[in-house]
Order: sequence, then C-alpha cells, then structure tokens
Amino acid sequence: MQDLEGRTAVITGAASGIGRALALACRREGVRVIATDVERGALDALAQDLAAPGGPEAVTELLDVRDAAAVEALAARSFARWGGVELLFNNAGVMVPRPLWEHGDLEWRWLIDVNLTGIMNGVRAFVPRMLARGVPAHVVNTGSMASFFATPMLGAYSASKFAVRALSEALHHDLRQIDACVRVSLLAPGAVRTRIFDADRNRPEGAPVITGASGAVRDLMRSGTQEAGMDPAEVARLVLDAIRAERFWIFPHPEMLAPLPEVTAAIIAGRSPEFGLAKSWKLAAE
Ligand code: NAI
Repeated sequence: MQDLEGRTAVITGAASGIGRALALACRREGVRVIATDVERGALDALAQDLAAPGGPEAVTELLDVRDAAAVEALAARSFARWGGVELLFNNAGVMVPRPLWEHGDLEWRWLIDVNLTGIMNGVRAFVPRMLARGVPAHVVNTGSMASFFATPMLGAYSASKFAVRALSEALHHDLRQIDACVRVSLLAPGAVRTRIFDADRNRPEGAPVITGASGAVRDLMRSGTQEAGMDPAEVARLVLDAIRAERFWIFPHPEMLAPLPEVTAAIIAGRSPEFGLAKSWKLAAE
C-alpha cells in the first residue's frame, strides 16, 4: 500500500508506547485514526494530541482486546461509519517477568488473552470484512524478539509472542493462497522505551503484584530499556515504511537476530537450547 493518506486505521493498545506513536504517525500521514485502549485517562491525553486542526478525523475508544464481542462490534461500527478499515494494528500487549512455575492461573490467562487471543480477536473481526470489501488492506501484529528467542524469566511472554509469530506467518500463507488484497506484517522489536515493564498496572483484579526476584528483574529491564531502548516514534516510522513496501518482517533491531543461525543449528543437531540473546541481553549475561 503505497499511499496511506485518506485510509482508516484501527490501533489497539494505542494509549501508550508503540501504539501511541503509531497513532500519531498515522495522523501525520493523513490517516483517519481509531485509537483504542483500556486506559481512559491516557486515551484522553492522546485525543488531545491527535486533535490538530485540519486533516482526517481521529477518535479514541475504550476497547479491551480480550473481549471478542467488543472487538467484533468495533469492526462492524468502523466499517459502517467510515466505509472500511484499511490498516489494523494488533498492538496491545502485556508482560510479567517470572519463572514460569510462579505464574498463577489468573496471570497466565490474562497475559495469553491479551497478547495472543487479543490478536486473534482482531483478525477474526477485521480480516473477513477487509476481504469482502476487496480493496488493499494491511494487518500489523506486534510480536517481539521474544517471538524468536525463548527468554528466561519471560516464559509466558515468550510463549505468547512465539504464538503471535506462528499466527502471523500462517495468516500470511492463508492470504497468499487466495491471492488476497490483505497483507500482514509481524513487528518484532527489541527494547523500546515504553511502559511495558509497568504492564501490571492493568492486571486483573486478584492477580499478584510483582515483587521479590521478579520485581528486581523487572526494575533492571526497565532501567536498561530506558537507557538504551529505541524511541517508539522510530518504531512507528519503520512500521509505516514496511506497510508501504508490503514487507512481512519488521525488525527495528535486526542486529539482535544474529544468534538465530546458531539457535537453529542447535535444534537441528539436537543440542539442548542455549539462551540465544545472552550476549546482547545484558541482564541475562549477569
Ligand atoms: P505500553 O505498556 O507502553 O503500551 C501497551 C498498551 O496496551 C497500554 O496502553 C495498555 O493500556 C494497553 N493494553 C493493556 N492491556 C490491554 C487490553 N486488554 N486491551 C487493550 N489494550 C490493552 O507498552 P508497549 O511497549 O508500547 O507495548 C506495545 C506492544 O509492543 C506490546 O505487544 C508489547 O509486547 C510489544 N513489544 C514491546 C517492546 C518494548 O521493549 N517496549 C519490545 C517488543 C515488543
């Protein structure tokens, strides 16, 4: 999709970080923005920043991506009101660092529901409508470097992001097979300066706070990311470039893929896994 101007975009998890940057970047490109999130206050702040005079309309809506019926209703409303949606950013995500066995059922389900089922809810609600309309459209699913490297203390997160990668690749194949007008990309960033390490601000009632060793790891990851992480605006710029180029893979940190051949070779040779990012992930090297 070469020309983004005049298109309509739905963004999930748009009130903060990468989603917020995507909303602002789309707005600058003349894209009509439907920015959704679970955080009303942060959405209101975004609405003010999106409300520049001139240009296309921008609206904010409360949307929990875990709620399939709400995602479906948003898709129906958006297509009815604006004639269609050409850009879908399945971006909402949460992270909780813990050894796997310490995730309670509530926390595990929350993480998988937001990071994986949330994306499936977006695909199920929007892709059939995009296909039926028959004009070029693009879906961007947010994975992570954790879609490629199973990461210690982030087992639940890695499991969800590996699955997001599998879902996105399979969606790409499914769309190719029918020569569809809909493209898909997987956004797989490394560290980006956002509020992801405070994702537990939205944890379900009854899920535990992050304390002890998990809290210490979280603090280290947060400070490392604040120091060395990429600006979300740069990530958004790369995403829009990839949409224009109809590129599947979006790697803001391509250098982090360097251990992938070795990880793959170990699998083929039947060797036990090493943590591929150990060298580039300061924390893991300690
Ligand atoms: P963030 O915490 O700044 O933004 C995430 C947004 O998702 C927040 O506004 C939050 O309110 C929203 N959200 C949480 N639960 C939701 C739900 N149930 N329904 C709808 N919205 C919900 O974090 P960030 O980093 O901008 O996260 C965006 C995506 O980027 C996530 O999928 C994350 O996993 C991914 N990512 C982030 C990296 C980073 O270093 N920041 C690295 C790799 C991937």
